[in-house]
Amino acid sequence: MDQFGRVFDYLRIAVTDRCNLRCIYCMPEEGIDFARNEQLLSRAEILRVIRIAARLGVRKIRYTGGEPLLRKDILELIRGASQTPGIDSIQLTTNGIFLTDQAAELRQAGLDGVNISLDTLDAAKFLKITRRTGVAQVLAGMRAALETGFSSVKINVVAMRGFNDDELGDFVALTKDAPITVRFIELMPFDAHQIWKTGRYFGFDMIRKDLMNLFPDLIPATGSATEGLVFQAPGHAGKVALIPAYTRSICSTCNRVRLTADGQIRNCLYSTTEHDLRAVLRNGGSDEDVAQLLKTAMWLKLKDGWDAQNEHDPGVTHHERESMTQIGG
Ligand code: GTP
Ligand code: 5AD
Ligand code: SF4
Repeated sequence: MDQFGRVFDYLRIAVTDRCNLRCIYCMPEEGIDFARNEQLLSRAEILRVIRIAARLGVRKIRYTGGEPLLRKDILELIRGASQTPGIDSIQLTTNGIFLTDQAAELRQAGLDGVNISLDTLDAAKFLKITRRTGVAQVLAGMRAALETGFSSVKINVVAMRGFNDDELGDFVALTKDAPITVRFIELMPFDAHQIWKTGRYFGFDMIRKDLMNLFPDLIPATGSATEGLVFQAPGHAGKVALIPAYTRSICSTCNRVRLTADGQIRNCLYSTTEHDLRAVLRNGGSDEDVAQLLKTAMWLKLKDGWDAQNEHDPGVTHHERESMTQIGG
């Protein structure tokens, strides 16, 4: 719990900072200064943190990246989390490229749901946004995930002017027959090249306005903590949601702790002060030491993502990140 009474029962863990795509808002073509293997947390370290966090009240784990399916031991990580007392939901955020092949074994290992990043349904635009081919693979991955019987399948669409603002209707159409949630996400400033300053930003209110023009009879619905607005189009099986990732109107109900690929606790996506959990793990820290660091990090969490972004504390080292892949989204 923190000073504002928020309760953190959701731990997001970036298991690698590497990715097979190069989305323009996330990573430059040449990649970034990737963590060396020994800088990443090992499987044993991750599962230890999950065990301790579960004792403190964490119930939901989300493996992210980079692309978490690039991690060779992802099945063991899922199995380990699913065998941890107290953990009742294991989720994964993926670009979906490898899902067709892996959906069934991920499910068997204990994964409950997947959030799939897909910013366009058009092959040429997919190539522009991700700098790689693969829209058909991602869509096949989504179908495989639905057939496998995950309890939750969501599509994350980073909304961008001039790229996919003309595709809102096509994405909503995906929810006609499939019980998925399509989520339009505001662009955030987490890439070294600052693509978000180039006129691509498409804010919550504008997305909502465009959606309402296209579908005037959307029905309000409910969703998860990041989903600032949730709707259902009449007669549709799935839902549509808006994530105010930049405007940050969801902070008062924030429920998440982040563990970066290199083992740092970030108490807010926008915070640049990190807490070195990896050092505690590797310097012989006890379970109580780990628990204490988690509790302290969350107690120090600021009121919202604006305060976190504006914090300039001369007493601490501010850790600017080059890419969202290091933070884990
Ligand atoms: P659910 O558990 O299904 O709600 O997923 P999620 O939204 O928590 O996770 P996901 O990895 O799918 O992230 C979707 C988008 O929301 C990404 O662009 C994230 O960076 C963004 N996001 C996730 N958590 C937060 C948060 O705490 N604050 C803000 N501002 N954005 C977030
Ligand atoms: N702005 C908004 N969303 C982003 N993501 C990655 N970088 C950004 C950004 N700069 C999204 C991905 C994925 C999720 C984990 O974070 O598209 O769906
Ligand atoms: Fe939580 Fe920070 Fe995200 Fe707000 S911006 S919801 S406080 S992690």
